[in-house]
Amino acid sequence: MSQKSDFNDRMLSLGLARVSEAAAIASADLIGRGDEKAADQAAVNAMRQQLNLLDIQGVVVIGEGERDEAPMLYIGEEVGTGNGPAVDIALDPLEGTTLTAKDMPNALTVIAMGPRGSMLHAPDTYMDKLAIGPGYPEGILNLDMTPSERVTALAKARGCSPNDITVCVLERPRHEAIISEIRGTGASIRLITDGDVAGVIHTAEANLTGIDMYMGQGGAPEGVLAAAALKCMGGQMWGRLVFRSDDERARATKAGISDFERVYTRDEMVTEDVIFAATGVTSGSILSGIKREPGWLTTETVLMRSKTGSIRRMSYRHPTGR
Ligand code: FBP
Repeated sequence: MSQKSDFNDRMLSLGLARVSEAAAIASADLIGRGDEKAADQAAVNAMRQQLNLLDIQGVVVIGEGERDEAPMLYIGEEVGTGNGPAVDIALDPLEGTTLTAKDMPNALTVIAMGPRGSMLHAPDTYMDKLAIGPGYPEGILNLDMTPSERVTALAKARGCSPNDITVCVLERPRHEAIISEIRGTGASIRLITDGDVAGVIHTAEANLTGIDMYMGQGGAPEGVLAAAALKCMGGQMWGRLVFRSDDERARATKAGISDFERVYTRDEMVTEDVIFAATGVTSGSILSGIKREPGWLTTETVLMRSKTGSIRRMSYRHPTGR
């Protein structure tokens, strides 16, 4: 039986990139076709098929949903050949199903892998999230601060005016008060219609994306995936689960969570070194989308390892029609 120490992230990361690429390529024909479900299903099928080729004893801890809701890549599904290290897998075969269906920016395929027990088993609830990129001292922000206090504290740490800060927020009615409070500080807001894994990752490359901070409520599973990416890229993140019903509390209990008020830091959501891969489906600030040419599809994948902080960008030219 393999132990945690067998987790050979150097070689596995290359396999992970193929998994992420395969999901993106499978969704290529469904970009801009207005069918979220078909795009997601194509990505799920391809991701599962590729994962099952990897020499791992994998368990999906962040997946497509509970077993009775999702026939494939459900939480608890065992994947891989059954040989090799015991690993946990967090995945979102298509992060931004609507972005894909509408051919809007920043749809990604996303997957992270770590030793067994390394990632929070986040239930399918919302999470209140706050994230900034690398280079700031610890403790300048926390989730209990108001949105305007966060902007002011970040501006102070950066030595700039709040007017120079850009905050990324999901455009949702539930965020109207946050948006108005942030605007009151003079900071600018990059509103996104979907895709908050990319929203958080944007803070880690603020010089490229122009986004300094991410805040607001989005999916808790996406929160853990974003924490895995930030663990590789650097940056700070906090998340607190948000419950809207007893059913959601029951899901959290089933996932082993008893403290419903707990604030998780990045390293409490992802407790050990992980590897992370994401492939662009539609073009965005961090990855190019799938490029189509007669006979070829070309993808861009980012592959990262938290142990070394290495970030590899890979272009893959996939022959079609063979
Ligand atoms: P899907 O790809 O599953 O559609 O998720 C997109 C997304 O925007 C996530 O990035 C985000 O965390 C979540 O949905 C927000 O949920 P809601 O649409 O309910 O506000």
